[in-house]
Amino acid sequence: MKSLTKAIFPAAGLGTRFLPATKASPKEMLPIVDKPMIQYVVEEAVASGIDEIIIITGRWKRAIEDHFDIAFELEENLKAKGESGLLSEIQRIANMVTLCYIRQKKALGLGHAILCAKNLIMDEPFAVLLGDDIIDSETPALMQLKEVYKKYRTPVLAIQRVKKEDVHRYGVIKGESLGDGVYKVLDLVEKPKPKEAPSDLAIIGRYILTPDIFGILEKTAPGKNREIQLTDGLKEMAKKHPIHAYEIKGKRYDAGDKLGFLKATVELALKNQELGKEFKNYLKSLNLAD
Ligand code: G1P
Repeated sequence: MKSLTKAIFPAAGLGTRFLPATKASPKEMLPIVDKPMIQYVVEEAVASGIDEIIIITGRWKRAIEDHFDIAFELEENLKAKGESGLLSEIQRIANMVTLCYIRQKKALGLGHAILCAKNLIMDEPFAVLLGDDIIDSETPALMQLKEVYKKYRTPVLAIQRVKKEDVHRYGVIKGESLGDGVYKVLDLVEKPKPKEAPSDLAIIGRYILTPDIFGILEKTAPGKNREIQLTDGLKEMAKKHPIHAYEIKGKRYDAGDKLGFLKATVELALKNQELGKEFKNYLKSLNLAD
């Protein structure tokens, strides 16, 4: 099997959980401290050995392409001002990785978004990273999945335990524990009601998949919310060959949600080298215990 070098970033969603901020701006471009949230996830992919990223984009998402492109006027301006630190940071963003963009014309679901990249992936394994799941971890989350992939050579899904009342927001697996946080996936359900959930092990937005998922997704009927669900495709796949899941070590923020976004902002700001100390003092001065 070929090595893992490509990743798909589905980013065509309408961001309805974050209106009105996302009326005219892509949610992926909302800044957490000083970077748009998608940049955190692109950096995680690059740190995990990905060198080609396929962004599934849609109308009103042009700002994403501009962010990862060169910014000629800005660069000239920074050069003239002698702002070499900022200049190299801006140039680093444009040179970090090869990017391709595919437009998903209709928001028909995560499974459909992935299917849009079929012709660019061909017969290689690939990663899927969801741009609003920010994972703060010592070892990049995708790198953790890669270790499991190297051992089992099967698709690997990132999972975390969630509260029973929150399972309806996730794809949930039924798994057989193999130890060290690894599970063999026996079944999957997309966004179950708490009493129908097979466990509290929820899929978070990182996957390593094999290209046979495309043929399966092509035959997958719309499921939850009348969208073509990746989880439904994976449920089919698990009947044909093994899939594994791995409990990611790290803190995951659902930054596509207003509260999750605020949590990510506060915690990552506290860790920020430049701002962290002053921000902590500011938070203390608010006497939040009251
Ligand atoms: C998607 C997937 C779901 C997964 C979640 C992780 O749902 O369909 O299985 O648990 O991402 O963030 P979404 O959040 O796009 O509704």
